[in-house]
Amino acid sequence: MGKDVIIACDFKSKEDTIKFLDRFTEEKLFLKIGMELFYAEGPDIVREIKRRGHKIFLDLKLHDIPNTVNKAMAVLSKLDVDMCNLHAAGTIEMMKAALEGLKREDGTRPLLIAVTQLTSTSQERMEKELLIQKPIDEVVIKYAQNAKIAGLDGVVCSPLEAGKVKENCGKEFLTITPGVRFETDDVGDQVRVTTPKRAKELGSDYIVVGRPITKAENPVEAYRRCVEDFCD
Ligand code: C5P
Repeated sequence: MGKDVIIACDFKSKEDTIKFLDRFTEEKLFLKIGMELFYAEGPDIVREIKRRGHKIFLDLKLHDIPNTVNKAMAVLSKLDVDMCNLHAAGTIEMMKAALEGLKREDGTRPLLIAVTQLTSTSQERMEKELLIQKPIDEVVIKYAQNAKIAGLDGVVCSPLEAGKVKENCGKEFLTITPGVRFETDDVGDQVRVTTPKRAKELGSDYIVVGRPITKAENPVEAYRRCVEDFCD
């Protein structure tokens, strides 16, 4: 499995997204579309980006009863996205139903990735509000193992956790890792960050990079630097 850089397209509208994409005249990109853009523009934004030849990670984090998730995934699969995700907290049964829904008639399907515990959930909140009385690192690994049992392809995690995930779920199990910054960048609201080079050393399969590329003076150059440091 080749390594790739996924650009987080955290734009509010199609117009802003297309303006950004128009800067890239040579490369075919892998783009993460999140809830904000998808809910604002609907499936058309996915179709437009696919028409331009880019790949899409549709980051909608599904979590519902198995039947509902199965049907929703079938719709996303027809949209021809390349990667999508769900909450592992929905249980193994839900994850299996999701995977089933994604299968296309020709036998192909998008990659399916699990979110374990969100990085915004602290140990304290998990214990007090969710009544989970275990160290959060253990919970993350348990959810990753559940995703693996359900047949999913990998998890979203910090580059710093990639090694531990692979140790517990096998080296083929994918790690999709946000929280990436160049040495010279502003960290912003991210807490634990690594550089593209370090993420590569730590075993990430895909890095998700937003502001270091989208807010760069020269986004194309910043993207190329990421690819050079992470993929080559
Ligand atoms: O701009 P930045 O590089 O921080 O963007 C990272 C992207 O990855 C954002 O779309 C953010 O929502 C997402 N993400 C994250 N941390 C997680 C899961 C997703 O930063 N644990």
